[in-house]
Amino acid sequence: MSSSAAAALPQIIQGGMGVGVSNWVLAGRVAACGQLGVVSGTAVERVLACRLQAGDPDGAMRRALAAFPDQAVASRILNAWFRPEGLPAPGEYKPVPLFSQTPSRALLELTVCGSFVEVWLAKQQAQDGGAVGINLLEKIRLPTLPTLYGALLAGVDAVLMGAGIPREIPAHITRLSAHEASSLRIPVEGGDTVESRFDPADLLTVKPTITRPAFLAVISSDVLAVSLARSGGIDGFIVEGPTAGGHNAPPRGGAADAKGTPIYGPRDVPDLKRIAALNLPFWLAGGKATHEAFREALATGAHGVQIGTAFAFCEESGMIPEVRAMARSQPGGAPVVTDGRASPTGFPFKVVAAAGSEGGRDPDLRERRTCTLGYLREAYAREDQTVGWRCPSEPVEQWSAKGGDPTAATGRRCVCNGLMATIGHPHANRDGSLELPLITAGDDLVGIDRFGKRYHADEVIDLVLGRVTHAVV
Ligand SMILES: Cc1cc2nc3c(=O)[nH]c(=O)nc-3n(C[C@H](O)[C@H](O)[C@H](O)COP(=O)(O)O)c2cc1C
Repeated sequence: MSSSAAAALPQIIQGGMGVGVSNWVLAGRVAACGQLGVVSGTAVERVLACRLQAGDPDGAMRRALAAFPDQAVASRILNAWFRPEGLPAPGEYKPVPLFSQTPSRALLELTVCGSFVEVWLAKQQAQDGGAVGINLLEKIRLPTLPTLYGALLAGVDAVLMGAGIPREIPAHITRLSAHEASSLRIPVEGGDTVESRFDPADLLTVKPTITRPAFLAVISSDVLAVSLARSGGIDGFIVEGPTAGGHNAPPRGGAADAKGTPIYGPRDVPDLKRIAALNLPFWLAGGKATHEAFREALATGAHGVQIGTAFAFCEESGMIPEVRAMARSQPGGAPVVTDGRASPTGFPFKVVAAAGSEGGRDPDLRERRTCTLGYLREAYAREDQTVGWRCPSEPVEQWSAKGGDPTAATGRRCVCNGLMATIGHPHANRDGSLELPLITAGDDLVGIDRFGKRYHADEVIDLVLGRVTHAVV
């Protein structure tokens, strides 16, 4: 898709929200309303494996797998993961292998199917409506190529990527759209880089026609926009401010208060005129779920807005109702903290300090020392020059034994496990307790009551487009 085709994308983008908050139900509903629904591409293989083990009660996973282009692959997935009787006990999921530089064929198949299922179901629900995109995080590199490939097989219309500088991704999309092998460079701390190679021909015997999707980069500065536009292959930008949910870009200069909360200043405000001059469509994100904010965005030359929080709390969201209720247990929602330490990525992360959730725990207990899912592990060079994997959220002794700087581990939490719990797949710990949900939301949570206690994605869209002046309460 060219940037002119990207300009044909809708005015409202429902932002990608991992893990599984922007699932196929939400993205499909938004797309059916004529806007861009975006599924999260993070941990798609684990989400599929969990849903199948939970018995796939509505049959959606099996319906989508029945449409997968290579049925031998689909039946291997079902044999390995589908449990018609559901879980033996809450949180008792069979472990999904962690990604490494050389993942097994079984893990690659699960990942390709994971993103295929999500995009295929959203597109089915959208029918002739709007478009469906997939969101990936640049920081989580190992699963990127198989995740992209599964989405391409399902006919994804747009790929959106943030949390890093996605300079190489457009070329990978081009190659994978032609079913060609591709290699992603993985940076190695204290070393060079290693390659993670993915060849569709190793997995599939068929090559269905793929239409190349648009590629939109999620950025927060005009400097990065200019630099990415020069590199080519970018069809548009999401310009995200520091009030947005999920991970935020760190402030320029790294300013923070005594508690480690990032301090943003005028230097963090992107020059939108400079971005507009690039002649690529752009959408503004962060507190844009009102008609006034939408109109202001258009007045800057933006094509539209990307919205997260308002969609995260609607009925179609993958965030389970109990967790949504925790975050909304008081008027205006629980406080939202920009935590400069929580995420092992090193990026500031918005955490909802809601009772019953990870963010509401006693500050002295807040560090979560575990790394069982491993998405945010980084590669490091061992003394013998082989590549090892470590996460600042793993137990400090373990992290230090791998050469990690103990101060870099302070205050970290296991974001991966917390986010799985948020969508109803908490893993059981050894002592039988279940992982607590970790809720992320933007500062816009404070205004969430304008939509009433229960509302649908359509109502967010109607309000933003000015079709109604008040949400129906
Ligand atoms: C629950 C939640 C999870 C999110 N996860 C991601 C993500 O995985 N990738 C991403 O690029 N942005 C993520 N975001 C950011 C949204 O895509 C969107 O840009 C942002 O929420 C817009 O600001 P708003 O929350 O004020 O509407 C997330 C936001 C929320 C609320």
